[in-house]
Amino acid sequence: MKAVVTNAKLPGCLEIGEAADPVADSNQAVIEVTAFSLNRGELRRAETAPGGTQIGWDLAGVVKTAARDGSGPGQGARVVGFSRRMQGWAQYVALPTVDFAVIPDAVSDNDAATLPVAGLTALYALERCERLLGSKVLVTGASGGVGYFACQLGRLMGAEVTAQLRRPDFADMVRATGVSDVVISADGAALEDRGKFRSIIDGVGGQILSKLLSQLDERGRAILYGVSAGAETGLAVRDLMFTGDGRVEGFHLYRESEIETAAKGLDRLLALLADGRLTTHVPVTGNWEKIGETAAQLIGRDFAGKAVLTI
Ligand SMILES: NC(=O)c1ccc[n+]([C@@H]2O[C@H](COP(=O)([O-])OP(=O)(O)OC[C@H]3O[C@@H](n4cnc5c(N)ncnc54)[C@H](OP(=O)(O)O)[C@@H]3O)[C@@H](O)[C@H]2O)c1
Repeated sequence: MKAVVTNAKLPGCLEIGEAADPVADSNQAVIEVTAFSLNRGELRRAETAPGGTQIGWDLAGVVKTAARDGSGPGQGARVVGFSRRMQGWAQYVALPTVDFAVIPDAVSDNDAATLPVAGLTALYALERCERLLGSKVLVTGASGGVGYFACQLGRLMGAEVTAQLRRPDFADMVRATGVSDVVISADGAALEDRGKFRSIIDGVGGQILSKLLSQLDERGRAILYGVSAGAETGLAVRDLMFTGDGRVEGFHLYRESEIETAAKGLDRLLALLADGRLTTHVPVTGNWEKIGETAAQLIGRDFAGKAVLTI
């Protein structure tokens, strides 16, 4: 079959090449992929993976062969899922039935394909926080794949969401999520007068994070899921100490989706998409032959939100 594979010599380090057809275990269905979305994390891995490595977490498609153990939907079901083995950007993929969900009629494959990594990360990171209703939540990197969903889901959970982003040209898109406050500030300095936050959902890391941690409220939670600006930061120990029970927590989607299956989390997000309470932002679409150039655009942050390619 054809599949997206790594090639460090090409733009985006990716091309369409050949891969072996998937062989399904008894708890896995074979899905014929129709669309997939790109994430920063897998593209970063593509830069260092050996040539010819398959890649891709998020995909939507149609069940070609149902799982032999009887779990999951039958042949022909339209589904969206998450390939833990990163083999999702291919004509076919075998996925455990706990890692995909049926797409409701009202939701397109393209919209569904944006959900797995970005939507589940936003959902589970927020659900790590406590007492969201009526409390202040800061979402950093709000123009990113995860940040955009976190703004909407935080609001749906009843929080008063402040969105941080660095570029004014993406502010309208973030404002449209219904957040209470949008702060444009690359280094976080403009957030200083916004007071304390009960929860911080951070995907930016780097030096901005050390500043923001001093704005964590008493018994606050900072959930660190990403390092778009850098993997090292300073820690204001005194500020953290005086929060009493303030916590800085690591987050990893693989671990989180052992607590609730991706299938269940995706069901919840798909229901919100179907009734219009959650929206996607997909400024870049096209045929998967554009994989190299689209990956390079995402790494270069030429657009906000998600890119979806179709097979
Ligand atoms: N732990 C996990 O399980 C998990 C799950 C999902 C994602 N992640 C990680 O989370 C991070 C975000 O993922 P994503 O898919 O949302 O990425 P994305 O779509 O590329 O968004 C990145 C966001 O960070 C901002 N940003 C990038 N570089 C910055 C810098 N130097 N200073 C300030 N802001 C900067 C971007 O702003 P602009 O729009 O202005 O460029 C954008 O808002 C990545 O590190 C990814 O690997 C981890």
